[in-house]
Amino acid sequence: MKKPLIISNWKLNGNKNIIDNFIKKLKLINNIKNMSLVIAPPIIYLEHFKNLIFDKNISLAAQNIDIHNFGAFTGEISVDMVKDIGAKYVIIGHSERRILHKEDNNIIFKKIDLVKKANLISIVCIGENEIEYKNNETKKTCINQINSLFYQNKIEDIKNIIIAYEPIWAIGTGKSADPEKIQYLIRYIKKYIKNKFNISEDILMLYGGSVNEKNAKNFLQQPDIDGLLVGNASLEANFFSSI
Ligand code: PGA
Repeated sequence: MKKPLIISNWKLNGNKNIIDNFIKKLKLINNIKNMSLVIAPPIIYLEHFKNLIFDKNISLAAQNIDIHNFGAFTGEISVDMVKDIGAKYVIIGHSERRILHKEDNNIIFKKIDLVKKANLISIVCIGENEIEYKNNETKKTCINQINSLFYQNKIEDIKNIIIAYEPIWAIGTGKSADPEKIQYLIRYIKKYIKNKFNISEDILMLYGGSVNEKNAKNFLQQPDIDGLLVGNASLEANFFSSI
Protein backbone atom coordinates (compact mmCIF):
# COMPACT_ATOMS: atom_id res chain seq x y z
CA MET A 1 0.00 0.00 0.00
CA LYS A 2 1.45 3.37 -1.01
CA LYS A 3 2.09 6.04 1.61
CA PRO A 4 -0.31 8.87 0.74
CA LEU A 5 0.65 12.52 0.76
CA ILE A 6 -1.98 14.50 2.63
CA ILE A 7 -1.97 18.28 2.45
CA SER A 8 -3.96 20.07 5.13
CA ASN A 9 -4.86 23.49 3.78
CA TRP A 10 -5.97 25.72 6.66
CA LYS A 11 -6.85 28.65 4.40
CA LEU A 12 -7.80 31.67 6.57
CA ASN A 13 -8.62 29.66 9.69
CA GLY A 14 -7.15 28.96 13.11
CA ASN A 15 -5.35 30.68 15.95
CA LYS A 16 -2.66 29.62 18.43
CA ASN A 17 -5.15 27.98 20.72
CA ILE A 18 -6.82 26.01 17.94
CA ILE A 19 -3.41 24.93 16.61
CA ASP A 20 -2.24 23.75 20.06
CA ASN A 21 -5.40 21.66 20.46
CA PHE A 22 -5.08 20.27 16.96
CA ILE A 23 -1.50 19.12 17.65
CA LYS A 24 -2.52 17.59 21.00
CA LYS A 25 -5.17 15.51 19.23
CA LEU A 26 -2.87 14.65 16.35
CA LYS A 27 -0.36 13.19 18.80
CA LEU A 28 -2.97 10.65 19.87
CA ILE A 29 -3.43 9.34 16.33
CA ASN A 30 -1.30 6.28 15.66
CA ASN A 31 -1.43 6.18 11.92
CA ILE A 32 0.35 9.48 11.25
CA LYS A 33 3.41 7.46 10.30
CA ASN A 34 1.38 5.82 7.52
CA MET A 35 1.13 9.08 5.61
CA SER A 36 3.24 12.09 4.71
CA LEU A 37 1.34 14.95 6.25
CA VAL A 38 1.93 18.50 5.07
CA ILE A 39 0.28 21.32 6.98
CA ALA A 40 -0.32 24.64 5.23
CA PRO A 41 -1.37 27.07 7.96
CA PRO A 42 -1.96 30.80 7.56
CA ILE A 43 1.57 32.12 7.02
CA ILE A 44 1.72 33.90 10.37
CA TYR A 45 1.43 30.53 12.17
CA LEU A 46 4.07 28.71 10.17
CA GLU A 47 6.70 29.14 12.86
CA HIS A 48 4.27 28.26 15.66
CA PHE A 49 3.45 25.00 13.87
CA LYS A 50 7.11 24.34 13.24
CA ASN A 51 7.84 24.50 16.95
CA LEU A 52 5.10 21.93 17.62
CA ILE A 53 5.94 19.35 14.98
CA PHE A 54 6.59 16.03 16.71
CA ASP A 55 7.01 13.52 13.88
CA LYS A 56 9.28 13.35 10.86
CA ASN A 57 6.29 12.51 8.67
CA ILE A 58 4.92 15.98 9.19
CA SER A 59 6.16 18.97 7.22
CA LEU A 60 4.99 22.45 6.37
CA ALA A 61 3.73 24.33 3.35
CA ALA A 62 3.02 27.96 2.57
CA GLN A 63 -0.37 28.66 1.01
CA ASN A 64 1.11 31.28 -1.30
CA ILE A 65 4.19 33.38 -2.07
CA ASP A 66 4.74 36.64 -3.92
CA ILE A 67 6.25 36.82 -7.42
CA HIS A 68 9.12 38.93 -6.04
CA ASN A 69 11.92 37.87 -3.76
CA PHE A 70 12.36 41.19 -1.96
CA GLY A 71 11.64 44.90 -2.27
CA ALA A 72 8.87 47.43 -1.87
CA PHE A 73 5.87 45.09 -1.95
CA THR A 74 3.89 45.86 1.19
CA GLY A 75 2.11 42.89 2.68
CA GLU A 76 3.85 40.25 0.58
CA ILE A 77 5.96 37.22 1.54
CA SER A 78 8.77 35.71 -0.52
CA VAL A 79 9.68 32.09 -1.13
CA ASP A 80 13.01 32.66 0.64
CA MET A 81 11.13 33.80 3.74
CA VAL A 82 8.93 30.72 3.88
CA LYS A 83 11.99 28.56 3.30
CA ASP A 84 13.77 30.39 6.11
CA ILE A 85 10.94 29.51 8.50
CA GLY A 86 11.06 25.86 7.47
CA ALA A 87 8.39 25.26 4.83
CA LYS A 88 9.22 22.55 2.27
CA TYR A 89 6.22 23.02 0.01
CA VAL A 90 4.26 25.91 -1.49
CA ILE A 91 0.69 25.65 -2.76
CA ILE A 92 0.54 27.48 -6.07
CA GLY A 93 -2.44 28.50 -8.17
CA HIS A 94 -5.21 27.45 -5.80
CA SER A 95 -8.54 28.31 -7.42
CA GLU A 96 -9.30 30.73 -4.57
CA ARG A 97 -6.19 32.67 -5.54
CA ARG A 98 -6.95 32.42 -9.24
CA ILE A 99 -10.51 33.69 -8.74
CA LEU A 100 -10.34 36.05 -5.74
CA HIS A 101 -6.85 37.42 -6.36
CA LYS A 102 -6.95 37.32 -10.15
CA GLU A 103 -3.86 35.12 -10.47
CA ASP A 104 -3.43 34.03 -14.05
CA ASN A 105 -1.23 31.30 -15.55
CA ASN A 106 1.53 33.85 -16.09
CA ILE A 107 1.72 34.71 -12.39
CA ILE A 108 1.43 31.06 -11.42
CA PHE A 109 4.24 30.15 -13.82
CA LYS A 110 6.50 32.80 -12.18
CA LYS A 111 5.74 31.42 -8.73
CA ILE A 112 6.48 27.84 -9.78
CA ASP A 113 9.80 29.08 -11.11
CA LEU A 114 10.67 30.85 -7.84
CA VAL A 115 9.79 27.76 -5.80
CA LYS A 116 11.96 25.64 -8.08
CA LYS A 117 14.91 28.01 -7.73
CA ALA A 118 14.53 27.93 -3.94
CA ASN A 119 14.60 24.11 -4.06
CA LEU A 120 11.19 23.76 -2.49
CA ILE A 121 8.30 21.75 -3.89
CA SER A 122 5.30 23.31 -5.63
CA ILE A 123 1.86 21.85 -5.20
CA VAL A 124 0.26 23.20 -8.35
CA CYS A 125 -3.54 23.26 -8.45
CA ILE A 126 -5.45 22.68 -11.65
CA GLY A 127 -9.10 21.98 -12.32
CA GLU A 128 -12.18 22.98 -14.25
CA ASN A 129 -15.08 25.19 -13.15
CA GLU A 130 -18.69 24.11 -13.05
CA ILE A 131 -19.54 25.31 -16.57
CA GLU A 132 -16.55 23.53 -18.05
CA TYR A 133 -17.51 20.42 -16.10
CA LYS A 134 -21.06 20.51 -17.41
CA ASN A 135 -19.76 21.04 -20.95
CA ASN A 136 -17.53 17.97 -20.65
CA GLU A 137 -14.41 20.13 -20.90
CA THR A 138 -12.55 18.77 -17.87
CA LYS A 139 -9.73 17.09 -19.79
CA LYS A 140 -9.32 20.01 -22.17
CA THR A 141 -9.16 22.55 -19.32
CA CYS A 142 -6.61 20.55 -17.34
CA ILE A 143 -4.38 19.96 -20.36
CA ASN A 144 -4.56 23.66 -21.31
CA GLN A 145 -3.54 24.60 -17.78
CA ILE A 146 -0.64 22.16 -17.85
CA ASN A 147 0.50 23.39 -21.25
CA SER A 148 0.53 27.02 -20.18
CA LEU A 149 2.20 26.36 -16.83
CA PHE A 150 4.97 24.17 -18.18
CA TYR A 151 5.24 25.70 -21.61
CA GLN A 152 8.98 25.46 -22.04
CA ASN A 153 8.71 21.69 -22.33
CA LYS A 154 11.82 21.08 -20.29
CA ILE A 155 12.16 18.24 -17.85
CA GLU A 156 13.40 20.69 -15.20
CA ASP A 157 10.00 22.37 -15.42
CA ILE A 158 8.31 19.49 -13.75
CA LYS A 159 10.96 18.53 -11.23
CA ASN A 160 9.85 19.17 -7.66
CA ILE A 161 6.26 19.58 -8.74
CA ILE A 162 3.16 17.85 -7.48
CA ILE A 163 -0.13 18.46 -9.24
CA ALA A 164 -3.35 18.72 -7.28
CA TYR A 165 -6.43 18.18 -9.40
CA GLU A 166 -9.19 20.17 -7.73
CA PRO A 167 -12.44 20.62 -9.65
CA ILE A 168 -13.55 24.11 -8.63
CA TRP A 169 -17.18 23.03 -8.27
CA ALA A 170 -16.11 20.49 -5.63
CA ILE A 171 -14.13 22.85 -3.39
CA GLY A 172 -15.92 23.63 -0.14
CA THR A 173 -19.28 22.61 -1.60
CA GLY A 174 -19.73 19.11 -0.17
CA LYS A 175 -20.00 17.84 -3.77
CA SER A 176 -16.93 15.65 -4.06
CA ALA A 177 -16.12 14.07 -7.40
CA ASP A 178 -16.52 10.39 -8.24
CA PRO A 179 -13.25 8.59 -7.25
CA GLU A 180 -13.34 6.30 -10.28
CA LYS A 181 -13.73 9.20 -12.68
CA ILE A 182 -10.88 11.00 -10.92
CA GLN A 183 -8.70 7.92 -11.25
CA TYR A 184 -9.38 7.86 -14.99
CA LEU A 185 -8.62 11.57 -15.39
CA ILE A 186 -5.47 11.49 -13.28
CA ARG A 187 -4.18 8.48 -15.22
CA TYR A 188 -4.81 10.38 -18.44
CA ILE A 189 -2.98 13.50 -17.18
CA LYS A 190 -0.03 11.51 -15.83
CA LYS A 191 0.35 9.77 -19.18
CA TYR A 192 0.11 13.08 -21.04
CA ILE A 193 2.83 14.63 -18.86
CA LYS A 194 5.06 11.57 -19.17
CA ASN A 195 4.91 11.71 -22.96
CA LYS A 196 5.19 15.48 -23.17
CA PHE A 197 8.30 15.64 -21.01
CA ASN A 198 9.69 12.29 -22.05
CA ILE A 199 10.17 11.13 -18.49
CA SER A 200 10.13 7.61 -17.14
CA GLU A 201 8.44 8.29 -13.80
CA ASP A 202 4.87 9.42 -13.26
CA ILE A 203 4.40 12.84 -11.67
CA LEU A 204 2.71 12.75 -8.24
CA MET A 205 -0.94 13.77 -8.38
CA LEU A 206 -3.41 14.56 -5.61
CA TYR A 207 -7.16 15.01 -5.53
CA GLY A 208 -8.83 17.87 -3.65
CA GLY A 209 -12.42 19.07 -3.24
CA SER A 210 -14.81 18.21 -0.39
CA VAL A 211 -12.71 15.32 0.87
CA ASN A 212 -13.94 14.19 4.28
CA GLU A 213 -13.56 11.39 6.82
CA LYS A 214 -16.02 9.21 4.92
CA ASN A 215 -14.85 9.55 1.33
CA ALA A 216 -11.06 9.92 1.83
CA LYS A 217 -10.37 6.22 1.58
CA ASN A 218 -12.35 5.87 -1.66
CA PHE A 219 -9.93 8.29 -3.29
CA LEU A 220 -6.82 6.79 -1.73
CA GLN A 221 -7.76 3.31 -2.94
CA GLN A 222 -7.37 4.45 -6.55
CA PRO A 223 -3.97 3.43 -7.91
CA ASP A 224 -3.06 6.80 -9.45
CA ILE A 225 -4.27 9.12 -6.70
CA ASP A 226 -1.11 9.68 -4.66
CA GLY A 227 -2.72 11.76 -1.95
CA LEU A 228 -5.25 14.43 -1.05
CA LEU A 229 -5.42 18.20 -0.70
CA VAL A 230 -7.93 18.78 2.06
CA GLY A 231 -9.41 22.04 3.31
CA ASN A 232 -12.28 22.06 5.79
CA ALA A 233 -12.15 18.45 7.01
CA SER A 234 -8.43 18.63 7.76
CA LEU A 235 -8.90 21.26 10.48
CA GLU A 236 -10.17 18.42 12.67
CA ALA A 237 -7.34 16.14 13.79
CA ASN A 238 -9.77 13.19 13.85
CA PHE A 239 -9.89 13.34 10.07
CA PHE A 240 -6.39 11.85 9.96
CA SER A 241 -7.37 8.76 11.91
CA SER A 242 -9.82 7.86 9.13
CA ILE A 243 -7.05 7.49 6.55
P1 PGA B 1 -12.22 21.59 0.81
O1 PGA B 1 -11.05 22.47 0.19
O2 PGA B 1 -11.61 20.28 1.23
O3 PGA B 1 -12.74 22.40 1.94
O4 PGA B 1 -13.23 21.39 -0.28
C1 PGA B 1 -10.09 21.88 -0.63
C2 PGA B 1 -9.14 22.93 -1.13
O5 PGA B 1 -9.54 24.09 -1.29
O6 PGA B 1 -7.97 22.65 -1.39
